[in-house]
Amino acid sequence: MPSKIFSAAITGLDTQIIEVETDVSYGLRYFNIVGLPDKAIEESKERVGAAIKSSGFKSPYSQSQRILINLAPADLKKEGSLYDLPIALGYLSASNQTRFNPQDKIFVGELALDGKLRPVKGVLSLTLLAKEKGWKEIILPKTNAPEAALAINKETIPKIIGVESLKETVNYLEGKTQISLFKINLQDFLEKPNYSLDFCWIKGQESSKRALEIAAAGGHNLLMQGPPGAGKSLLARSLPSILPNLSFEESLEVTKIYSVAGFLPKEKPLISLRPFRSPHHTTSEAALIGGGNPPKPGEITLAHRGVLFLDEFPEFHRDVLESLRQPLEEGEIIILRARHRLTFPARFSLIAAANPCPCGYYKDPQKDCQCQPSQIAKYRRKLSGPLIDRIDISIEVPQLKFEKLTSPDIKNYSSKIREKIEKTRQIQKQRVGHTYTNSEMSLPQIKKYCQIGPKSQSILRQFVNSGKLSARGYHRVLKIARTIADLDESENIDYNHLTEALMYRIRED
Ligand SMILES: Nc1ncnc2c1ncn2[C@@H]1O[C@H](COP(=O)(O)OP(=O)(O)OP(=O)(O)O)[C@@H](O)[C@H]1O
Ligand SMILES: [Mg+2]
Repeated sequence: MPSKIFSAAITGLDTQIIEVETDVSYGLRYFNIVGLPDKAIEESKERVGAAIKSSGFKSPYSQSQRILINLAPADLKKEGSLYDLPIALGYLSASNQTRFNPQDKIFVGELALDGKLRPVKGVLSLTLLAKEKGWKEIILPKTNAPEAALAINKETIPKIIGVESLKETVNYLEGKTQISLFKINLQDFLEKPNYSLDFCWIKGQESSKRALEIAAAGGHNLLMQGPPGAGKSLLARSLPSILPNLSFEESLEVTKIYSVAGFLPKEKPLISLRPFRSPHHTTSEAALIGGGNPPKPGEITLAHRGVLFLDEFPEFHRDVLESLRQPLEEGEIIILRARHRLTFPARFSLIAAANPCPCGYYKDPQKDCQCQPSQIAKYRRKLSGPLIDRIDISIEVPQLKFEKLTSPDIKNYSSKIREKIEKTRQIQKQRVGHTYTNSEMSLPQIKKYCQIGPKSQSILRQFVNSGKLSARGYHRVLKIARTIADLDESENIDYNHLTEALMYRIRED
């Protein structure tokens, strides 16, 4: 009788239940896996064979057997080593070496040659799927159990059964061993913030810090320009110290991404701090936006719900920068593959830093610029156009005067700003609900929540009619003004809120 064991597949961030069917008959030796397996699954025949032998069972290679394994549905491409455990159990069951009830159980795990289980990627997503579909048990490598337990939190179904070896799994299924349920205390999983770079270490630059505060409060995009050594990188790298905490739902969302990417720390498999990603300017398009085969999330997805910092912005390849246009607008990236399309979330705020020209002193009041006009024009072309139109806040970071540089530290600078930002995020959550930040407001929401008075209207009219503000720019100014008013705990967007927002938007070249 063929056996049927259940497992699950991950494609991108999507998950699906997979049936592992095994048929064993006698005849000329044959061992094949069908159902669009990738190389890792093809090789699972060898791992499973050795693991079965090491666990004291009769190996599929020791007798004249015809073994056929089908991973259904047959038209879905399967990837990874997580099917080792269900394939081994399917074989043991179909060859009558064990007997157990596979109903309501999902199995995942990679086997080592000695029969021990190794952790697999994407367990959080798989457990969330099992929970959503009402499966009773998920049996997986013990090292993956903490991650799986996150998905069920305080609930008890599905039961998380963490096993160390194939032999232990069989003993458990046959009722010969008890395995205690894995439970977690969420508090133990929270990462401790390490604010090694605090705003208190950055002297002067009050207006730059204010702009970063607004960007962090409303999830807006920001570009800093200034001469070498002015402190742009320092300002950006201090941003995590003022970012608001992630809610538990957001944490799970981000953890799911890091889980399928294989970037979760084993001991604390919960991402509880807002991501801050800073890829190098030599990064490829696939590494930035995601892709490859099998498709992996890129930096913009790893920065989901956090910050993507692009230092030396104009040094990035033009195509790489252009590829950011769609995700910046949509908050997600769609990757097309021959058989299906994958969607990765990418709701991040973009923080970019640049020198104003190749030598860095274009229009500098103290130093002469050494660049040729053509060099400046080429360089600044990357700082203009449709991508820059998506940046809400544009600021200049000037060189500091000595007096500022030696001014005394301000205590608890970042923590005070962070408290204010947390409050602002609560206001936004209550107002726009699931969209959560002001930068994500839809057009109807802008219309409803960004009402302005006649004086503000008249100044905006001037800027739009003189071509200084695009339609996109107009809506983005309203969103920033909303954030500034929220930081002020003001229900209305006042004239001064609007003019501050406009100041960040209008760029002189
Ligand atoms: N406002 C400041 N307060 C204290 N130190 C500062 C400040 N600005 C710059 N510095 C010092 O200067 C160093 C260089 O700053 P940073 O790397 O941020 O400059 P930058 O603007 O990114 O320069 P570049 O354009 O060359 O990348 C910092 O590591 C820090 O030691
Ligand atoms: Mg720098």
